[in-house]
Formats: sequence, C-alpha cells, structure tokens
Amino acid sequence: MFMASRIQTRAFSASARNLSKVTVLGAAGGIGQPLSLLLKLNPRVSELALYDIRGAPGVAADVSHVNTKSTVKGYEASPAGLASALKGAEIVLIPAGVPRKPGMTRDDLFNTNASIVRDLAKACAESCPEANILVISNPVNSTVPICAEIFKARGVYNPKRLFGVTTLDVVRASRFVSELKDTNPVDEKITVVGGHSGVTIVPLFSQSSHPELSSNADLVKRVQFGGDEVVQAKDGAGSATLSMAMAGARMAESLLRASQGEKGVVEPTFVDSPLYKDQGIDFFSSKVELGPNGVEQILPVGKIDAVEEKLLEACFSDLKKNIEKGKAFVAANP
Ligand code: NAD
Ligand code: LMR
Repeated sequence: MFMASRIQTRAFSASARNLSKVTVLGAAGGIGQPLSLLLKLNPRVSELALYDIRGAPGVAADVSHVNTKSTVKGYEASPAGLASALKGAEIVLIPAGVPRKPGMTRDDLFNTNASIVRDLAKACAESCPEANILVISNPVNSTVPICAEIFKARGVYNPKRLFGVTTLDVVRASRFVSELKDTNPVDEKITVVGGHSGVTIVPLFSQSSHPELSSNADLVKRVQFGGDEVVQAKDGAGSATLSMAMAGARMAESLLRASQGEKGVVEPTFVDSPLYKDQGIDFFSSKVELGPNGVEQILPVGKIDAVEEKLLEACFSDLKKNIEKGKAFVAANP
C-alpha cells in the first residue's frame, strides 16, 4: 500500500515536471508557422500556445490536427489574448517582427521591431516573469537588451532566463564546413561567438577538427553573412524562415531537455554575460550550459588564434553600439 502510493507520487511528480507549456509570439509568420509545427512534433511540449496580431487561431487549428499528444490553442489578437497565451508558459519564443529585404542590414529593422519586442516583453514581464524568453526578432543584438531593460524596470529581470537565439549561426557553420570537407554535418561542431549580425558573428574554427579553416576568409565571411544569402535568394519575400524554425526548435528542445533533468546540455546563445563586461559588452553569445534554472554556466571562449582575435576585436565595436542602442531605446521609450 505504502509502496504503491510512493510509486504513484513519484509517477505524478515526474509527469508534472514534464508538463511544459511553450508559447510562440508571431506564430503566423514565416518562422512562426514551421516553428509551431516542429514544436507540435516535440513530445516534451505538452501545451502549445500560439499568438500573433493576425492569424494565430487559423495556424493553431491546422497544427492541432497533427496527431501528437500536446494540446494547441490559438489566441485572439488582444491584450487579454496575449496574457492568456503567456500565463504558465515555461518557454516563450519571439519571432514577431518584420524581416529584411535585399540591401537592408538587421539594424535597419530596429525602428519597427524595437517597439514590437518592447511591448511583448512588457506582456511577458506581467504574465510569465519566470519563463525562459527566447528572442528571435532582429536585430537580436539590440532586442535582447531591450527585453532585459523592460524586465529590470518591472523588478522581474532574471538574466538566467533571457536568451537571444543565435543557433542558426552554428547550424550554418556546421553545414558549410561539411559541404567543404564532405563530412556529416552532425560531426561538425563549430563554436560561434559574439552577436547575431555581420561582423559580430565570430566562428571559431581553430577549436574545431579543422583548425586551418580559420584562415579561410571566404568561409568565415559566409558564416557571418549567411543570412544575406537567403535574403537575396528570396528577393524581397523575407529572410530565413525554415532553417530558423529548425534552429529555434532545437534551442527550445535543449532548454526542455535541461529543465527535465538532462545534464551537460550546451548551446551557444546570446545572454547577459560576464565574459567581456570589463570592455563594456554586457551581452555576448558563447557556449552556455543549460539547466533547470535556464543558464547553468556560461563557458569561457577558450583559446583562439590570431585571426580570430582580430575578428573578435571587430565584433566588439559593433556589438557594443547595438547593445547600447537597445538600452537607449527603452530609456527614451519606456
Ligand atoms: P514574418 O513577417 O513572416 O512574420 C512575423 C510575424 O510577426 C507576422 O505574422 C506578424 O503578424 C507578427 N507580428 C508582428 N507584430 C506582432 C506583435 N506585436 N505581436 C505578435 N505578432 C506580431 O517574419 P519572419 O520571417 O517570421 O521573421 C520574423 C523575425 O525574425 C524578423 O525580425 C527576422 O529578422 C527575424 N529572424 C531572426 C533570425 C535569428 O537567427 N535570430 C533568423 C531569421 C529571422
Ligand atoms: C538570419 O541570420 O538568417 C536572420 O538573422 C535573418 C536575416 O535578416 O538575415
């Protein structure tokens, strides 16, 4: 009798721990739709909440017919709909905002996306202050600091729970190297550090199994400007959506694995980081070990070669400006 109830209690607490509500803000967009589909296919997600300023109920109705166990709900575009979508979320992914067209930089998106992300961050601070917030909307180098400032102003900032999604840079680096070397991309683990735009993206090939690639300037440039390839190929119809959905789903899956007890889960991601704070860089992407509380440990950049030292220097000056721009925006437009 005693044993049976203990087993029952254990079974209950294990399944309670594994109940994970995941919310997508911008769910009807180019990234939002395939991302929602991939999350529906993830058995670690028990409840999927989809929100957008238009079209979320339709996407939810569609995705909800996929025969996996999770429930799916699309929320009406209103403050109340947004609050309900966020209530109880363990993870919130934010791909809301406009994408680039050819000739634009990510920073050119700032004027539109800064206020979208600011307002969504306010809603998160209000309705799910303890959730892991995964920011996809560009310019990530500025939108993550915007979220941090909004959370700070409301007294609910937890730096361990705020992530800029830079997974796509790592995904690209691994794929591009495998094309060059005719290898399986699964085996190509390339660390990418810095930020998420142009020269702030710094691949560290010296730490990979092909250290000589750090002097392959074309490859370095391809990783730094991989997003432009897609923007140009789409010719005005947007930027990466499908590969980004895969990258965002991978980052969410890694967080869920870590929160559900797996040890040693490491992803590179743009976080509030001590690594270069002495140089005025408050946020930096590097390998981060994830845990039940979000960030478990920020790993050091480690040994890099002379070429990479130079790349990192170039990264710092742009990154610092991008971060400051995000903070200044919230100071002027709280
Ligand atoms: P999209 O225009 O196809 O979709 C954006 C969606 O956001 C739309 O459905 C729109 O209705 C919605 N939206 C706008 N304002 C909103 C609000 N206030 N609340 C909720 N939803 C809102 O764009 P996309 O191709 O999906 O790209 C979205 C963003 O992701 C862009 O800023 C893009 O630059 C960025 N992006 C980032 C990465 C990365 O690696 N971090 C990769 C690709 C794209
Ligand atoms: C990417 O890297 O593909 C995204 O940041 C979208 C873009 O604007 O390039």
